[in-house]
Amino acid sequence: MKGVILAGGSGSRLHPLTAVTNKHLLPVYNKPLIYFPIEKLVEAGVTDILIVTSGEYMSHFTSLLDNGSGLGARLRYAVQLAPNGLADALRLAKDFAQGEKIIMVLGDNVFEDSLKEPVQAFQKMKGAAIFLKEHPEARDYGVVEMKDGKVIDIEEKPVAPKSNWCAVGIYMYNPDVFDVIDTLKPSKRGEYEITDVNRVYLERGELSYFKLKGEWFDCGNFYWLLKANLFVAKKYHNFDSGNA
Ligand code: TTP
Repeated sequence: MKGVILAGGSGSRLHPLTAVTNKHLLPVYNKPLIYFPIEKLVEAGVTDILIVTSGEYMSHFTSLLDNGSGLGARLRYAVQLAPNGLADALRLAKDFAQGEKIIMVLGDNVFEDSLKEPVQAFQKMKGAAIFLKEHPEARDYGVVEMKDGKVIDIEEKPVAPKSNWCAVGIYMYNPDVFDVIDTLKPSKRGEYEITDVNRVYLERGELSYFKLKGEWFDCGNFYWLLKANLFVAKKYHNFDSGNA
């Protein structure tokens, strides 16, 4: 399987931290944010990874990460010309995928669960798989409704959410995802939505899910970026005990 990490976007909610740098280069305690998804993919055995970001900050990523060997990865890079949405960014991975399955991770997500077992399980699965987490702010994401162990609906940022379960920024797709993306139209907010991709698989009866058991942070705003920092500091460096 091949990995794709999205590291473009505008980062407008983190302004002015993102005024002269990219969100995914900001620190989460002792490492730049982008290290976390890379390490998770490598740990799951996915070492061929495409980083998608804007032209503006591409050279910052290559300076920091080079060819990825320092993290055990083989990195490639692609430029997204404008922040036109997650599905638009994934489209850029078509040639890189070379007909293989894809796992896509949003570069601003920090999480505890290992991806090893889901990645192995998905080798035999059709369609797409999403990862779910119960979250107090689920309505800010793709909210998922389930019945009898199956996803029956998925709605992007709903006004009246039907559950507390949201789709986090980890997705697995079969290679036909690029054909699905080609059928999409931009949403009301002008973006090619990953939720629309997932809805196509849902309608085909080919949308599976994995539930995250551990902590998950979307570091897109100040509060959750701080929470992720505190979590990593406490977990890996005994920050609370006074040990340096
Ligand atoms: P978001 O956090 O939804 O968007 P953003 O990063 O532009 O931030 P803001 O809303 O504060 O302006 O993006 C989720 C992830 O996807 C994040 O890691 C950035 C990435 N992304 C892209 O790579 N390309 C895109 O076109 C968009 C919209 C996001």
